[in-house]
Amino acid sequence: MHLHTPRLLLRWLCPDDLEDFLEYRSDPAVLRYQSMSPMSRAQAARFIKSQAHKALGKAGAYQQIGIERQSDGKLVGDCALKLRAGEPRIAEVGYTVNPAFQGQGYATEAVGALVGELFGRLGIHKVAALVDARNPASFRVLEKLGFAREAHLRLSYFDPIDGDWFDEYWYGLLREEWGRGG
Ligand SMILES: CC(C)(COP(=O)(O)OP(=O)(O)OC[C@H]1O[C@@H](n2cnc3c(N)ncnc32)[C@H](O)[C@@H]1OP(=O)(O)O)[C@@H](O)C(=O)NCCC(=O)NCCS
Repeated sequence: MHLHTPRLLLRWLCPDDLEDFLEYRSDPAVLRYQSMSPMSRAQAARFIKSQAHKALGKAGAYQQIGIERQSDGKLVGDCALKLRAGEPRIAEVGYTVNPAFQGQGYATEAVGALVGELFGRLGIHKVAALVDARNPASFRVLEKLGFAREAHLRLSYFDPIDGDWFDEYWYGLLREEWGRGG
């Protein structure tokens, strides 16, 4: 896949991404609100290898899409995409940007392009995302793109780092809402 935005290129991860990928995927702070653990070099290399996809949109499993900055080819983050196993017309997304490059609108630009592709070329009906209620940067990205907060799940996630239960929000965007402006 090759999806261009004004500043970014969304494409599959490749072995040359290892150093850039490790910069943020080995950082516990980045993964704080994601159900993932920091990766070692070997784990990251294996993970990138496992992401050799041919086509976008796979039911029941996450696909990780690299976010490359066009100006210098740097991998600045990645998006995750999964079509629901039982209902592949509903997609779930996630996203991560290297802290060194956060706050520049990259996540919004990348997720916006991915969502456009899902509603356009893939004919997806709805895009959803589950976010930790303590992670406003994440739900701000969704709200800027026009997603609605559809559910507040009370104490539904046990965070092993804090040893306690926390709230989560489900966000959703319908195809007919896309492009109305967030
Ligand atoms: C969530 C994340 C991807 C956002 O990446 P980003 O490239 O900085 O996002 P953007 O610049 O497009 O937008 C971020 C928005 O959140 C806002 N924001 C950032 N931190 C915030 C905070 N603590 N409180 C409120 N808003 C915050 C920014 O101001 C910006 O909104 P604005 O454009 O209205 O000013 C990034 O913070 C990240 O990788 N976090 C760690 C991984 C993660 O938690 N991913 C989400 C789980 S699915």
